[in-house]
Amino acid sequence: MTIIALANSKGGVGKSTLCLLIASELAENGASVLIVDADPQQSCRQWVDRCKRAGTLPSSLLVMLASSPHDLKVVLTTTNAAIILIDVQGSINDLLIAAIVASDITLVPAKANVMEMVETVKLFEWAQSSLKRAPLRLLLNRVEGIDTRTTAFQDAVQMIRDNKLPALPTFVRARKVYEQFSKEAGSLAQIGKDPAKTEQVTKARANIVGVITDITRIIGETE
Ligand SMILES: Nc1ncnc2c1ncn2[C@@H]1O[C@H](COP(=O)(O)OP(=O)(O)OP(=O)(O)O)[C@@H](O)[C@H]1O
Ligand SMILES: [Mg+2]
Repeated sequence: MTIIALANSKGGVGKSTLCLLIASELAENGASVLIVDADPQQSCRQWVDRCKRAGTLPSSLLVMLASSPHDLKVVLTTTNAAIILIDVQGSINDLLIAAIVASDITLVPAKANVMEMVETVKLFEWAQSSLKRAPLRLLLNRVEGIDTRTTAFQDAVQMIRDNKLPALPTFVRARKVYEQFSKEAGSLAQIGKDPAKTEQVTKARANIVGVITDITRIIGETE
């Protein structure tokens, strides 16, 4: 059983979108995947419900809710899923702590922007000093194609180095198709059935496979 949490004390950074993208990509490949929606907003549960109504939910993907550390513990001890993804609220609370501590890896999505990353740096510092286990990895999200050549992006990279933040080598690009995915009903594979979207979807899926490959390697190294 592999447990992957998505967390950041900051809201709107892409936790739920990335949780659903990774979960659906793994499920499309036949893995049994459980999403634990531990955010009162229930964005993941709503996406799964939309997919169920549309008949587009990958068959090996399930969602369960958890509103307390106790709920989370019960879900984690009773599930048969091979891979579990936990989506938590954008604030530091008991559930976020329980999710980090239970996870093999906690992905911390953030925009590559110094102003936006100030809070993320604080989360890493707090986890390092307060938690016995803090398998946090920064995941740069919504990176525009042109960003990487800008001073703003380079400053963000410098900030990651200066603060010795462990980051995933792969970063996730800003893509219209990810936005569409989070609002509609169905996996990227489903969206890619539209011939006009096939090319975009192929690139978008390869980006997520890159993230999954990094996760697998990091978990393998820390075992
Ligand atoms: N890589 C990306 N490219 C394009 N849009 C993205 C990307 N990542 C996230 N988004 C969009 O950003 C918005 C916020 O994402 P999301 O809801 O996943 O963030 P969150 O961290 O879960 O927010 P909250 O703290 O409210 O739970 C959504 O509209 C989503 O479609
Ligand atoms: Mg969310």
